[in-house]
Amino acid sequence: MRTPTDRPPVVDIRDLHVEFKTYAGKVRVLNGVNFTVYAGEKVAIVGETGCGKTTTVKSILRILAKNSRVPRGEILFRGRNVLGMKGDELKKLRGAGASMIFQDPTMSLNPVFTIGEQMFEAIRNSGREGCGKRDTQQELAVLALKQTSMPDPERILISYPFQLSGGMRQRVCIAMSLATPREMVIADEPTTNLDVTIQDQVLKILKDRVESKHSSLILITHSLGVARETTDRVYVMYAGNMIETAPTEEIFRRQAHPYTQALMRCIPRLTGGGVAEGIPGRIPNYLKPPAGCRFAPRCPQAEKRCHEEKPEFADLGNEHFVACFSYEQEEKKG
Ligand SMILES: Nc1ncnc2c1ncn2[C@@H]1O[C@H](COP(=O)(O)OP(=O)(O)OP(=O)(O)O)[C@@H](O)[C@H]1O
Ligand SMILES: [Mg+2]
Repeated sequence: MRTPTDRPPVVDIRDLHVEFKTYAGKVRVLNGVNFTVYAGEKVAIVGETGCGKTTTVKSILRILAKNSRVPRGEILFRGRNVLGMKGDELKKLRGAGASMIFQDPTMSLNPVFTIGEQMFEAIRNSGREGCGKRDTQQELAVLALKQTSMPDPERILISYPFQLSGGMRQRVCIAMSLATPREMVIADEPTTNLDVTIQDQVLKILKDRVESKHSSLILITHSLGVARETTDRVYVMYAGNMIETAPTEEIFRRQAHPYTQALMRCIPRLTGGGVAEGIPGRIPNYLKPPAGCRFAPRCPQAEKRCHEEKPEFADLGNEHFVACFSYEQEEKKG
């Protein structure tokens, strides 16, 4: 795949396969994911529930569940092989390298420490200048909480996670990320528990922060509107594969993959019913996924070959790539 910018990639995922061992058998979720984020880029991953968005980003930080296995593929973070990292290098990746705001904020907060204790420690570990001092930690924590419109930040700092609502916990996680700048911020549905009125505001702060620090952003979202407002590039995921990617404006102008076309028809939210309205059928069972293109069983244009072989990205020009056999001819012409 040609590089869309002359900047170096921060994250480069090649042919990533991830499977989980379950009582029912082996679930083969990621099926050869190709995904690249360049320095300073803000990238959205969109796709219906269960398609593997969280699995993809968790694998970058090596925080997949214990029943997971990576039988094939490669993840590079700033050129370093993440799957081979150990001890200190892994600590550095999760420290200065990338931070993650989880879909479920209970995942990242420790129930036995106050919010203040956890925020101060994160700020101390971030290695920013003066961050060893308690006053500075307090100041930065309060400022970050205020930026997320959290009422009464001083009181929040002496509270335990269980004393806060889901939306407040999510804002604490966002504040933690604001207070500890990294090379890359990974935000997995960061505003789902927030009121619509503050969703936009929080996303804007996150975006400004990423831009002012020249960091990169991976934003997982169910909302195409949010992707459009916040990111430079969109990756569309279906059943464990990236099936299309293009600069944000380009993909709103032209959707190449039949799945992306269906996705755009069911704006704005993709939760629950998925794209059932646009295309009959459901995401395949990962215990017994279809051979070939995983979308073929639902695809109105599928031919024999689609059921047998997996399509690779075809280059449509304009930094637009699509994994669908019907574009192979077009690529050759271009
Ligand atoms: N530890 C695990 N064991 C077994 N299956 C898992 C595990 N983690 C994830 N999966 C399965 O992998 C698939 C993809 O899950 P993932 O959470 O990555 O989807 P997602 O795209 O983030 O969905 P959502 O939009 O609902 O958050 C799902 O079918 C899920 O059940
Ligand atoms: Mg998810």
